[in-house]
Amino acid sequence: MSQDEETSASTGTDGTDDLASIRRAQSVGALPGTGSIRALHSPPPPVWHPILLEHPHHLTDVSSWHGHIPFAFWCVATLRPRVFVELGTHKGDSYAAFCQAIDHLSLDTACFAVDTWRGDDHAGLYDDSVYAALARYHDARYRRFSQLLRTTFDEAAAYFPDQKIDLLHIDGLHTYEAVRHDFETWLPKLSDRAVVLFHDINVRENGFGVWRFWEEVSQRYPHFSFTHSHGLGVLAVGPYVPDSFGTLYEKDAQSSSPAASSTLKHLSERRHLTRAKRTTMSMNLKAASWRIGDYLDD
Ligand SMILES: C[S@@+](CC[C@H](N)C(=O)[O-])C[C@H]1O[C@@H](n2cnc3c(N)ncnc32)[C@H](O)[C@@H]1O
Repeated sequence: MSQDEETSASTGTDGTDDLASIRRAQSVGALPGTGSIRALHSPPPPVWHPILLEHPHHLTDVSSWHGHIPFAFWCVATLRPRVFVELGTHKGDSYAAFCQAIDHLSLDTACFAVDTWRGDDHAGLYDDSVYAALARYHDARYRRFSQLLRTTFDEAAAYFPDQKIDLLHIDGLHTYEAVRHDFETWLPKLSDRAVVLFHDINVRENGFGVWRFWEEVSQRYPHFSFTHSHGLGVLAVGPYVPDSFGTLYEKDAQSSSPAASSTLKHLSERRHLTRAKRTTMSMNLKAASWRIGDYLDD
């Protein structure tokens, strides 16, 4: 990001940046120099939750999922899953984001990361140090509600009773056959409010075939998709996915909501902001919410 872009992002002049999203999202007209207190009465955007202001704690050089972390936070806050399973964890960038949100919200979610921690044809093969580093990080923070299951996806499936998983993230080997097999193997494990996430639906080279399976499976369920950060497909498999989550897609038309999509896209772009700028924005927002609290108390 250039200096100009950073400045624009921090000052919110182009109407599409992060701070502008946050302003719209919280309708905090009381932010210094950003409008009147009447803005408090504007309706919030469909996908707002304060957890969107949190900073991701675990970011490694495996960055392909980083752009979806705000969505992971929102997804946890909105679905409040009882059981979350990730198939394919590697260094833990995506998994740790889900755990961070669960911990932050003090949810009772049981979480499981499944991986051989040996790698595959797309992620490349790697040694035991990857698992050791993640286990150290994970055990110190999330052992209360989360387990790393070092085994194959197929072997792990046998440990899970049917109809229990509320949120499943499929991010293993990315061939058409593998992703289809993973979905079909885990489908019976899904609850009646289950959502399934598919990473890499927007990659078409090097034998990736998630996009092709996504084209098929998304015909069958309400869905939503992001194109950034290699693409993320969001499939509402259970018939009783919470309505608040349904703001992402129009259940009948099976099409995505532009308002929800653009808010999450703006928030996803937050990853381009420096930590300092994000900290400043969070502090401004906290100050604003205190002032709002004072205003409402008066
Ligand atoms: C793309 S990486 C996961 C990336 C991770 N979700 C992230 O966001 O950083 C895929 C992982 O899936 C694992 N994997 C692939 N197929 C597997 C299988 N059948 N059983 C267990 N692990 C598998 C690999 O070891 C690799 O670590």
